[in-house]
Amino acid sequence: MMKILVLNGPNINLLGKREPEIYGNNSYKALCEAVEKEAKALGVAVDIVQNNSEGELVTILQQADDVYDGVVFNPAAYTHYSIALLDTIKAIGIPVMEVHLSDIHKREDFRRHTVTTAACVGQVCGLGIDSYIVGMRKLYDYIF
Ligand code: DQA
Repeated sequence: MMKILVLNGPNINLLGKREPEIYGNNSYKALCEAVEKEAKALGVAVDIVQNNSEGELVTILQQADDVYDGVVFNPAAYTHYSIALLDTIKAIGIPVMEVHLSDIHKREDFRRHTVTTAACVGQVCGLGIDSYIVGMRKLYDYIF
């Protein structure tokens, strides 16, 4: 069975409480439930992990290499400046699909600049929780 990791960076656990006008009213729990439902529909195994630290995300991605077939990754703010995460995504052998809840291209200028995307197989943004669902489907197609 295909195994996918859904990995979330800083503050994604605050979904529902955090700037709801941008990120919506759905909770982090609702995001996890939607991801689990989609995994079932695709017939894949999924683990969902959230971590606020850049270094921890590096370690989690390194370890994912041996365990998962691919990663759906929301690096959150690190998207815009983490060369460490860019290098890690390049270093591991499994595909990483970047996702964002908000449309980073329609917000502040600094969010338009992305560092991690260059190493990813694609980017889905602006669809709220559905960014994850589309990201999972596209990653599934990419792996197959
Ligand atoms: C985000 C967009 C980032 O710019 C921001 O720093 C986040 C969330 C999103 O999912 O829309 O924390 O990755």
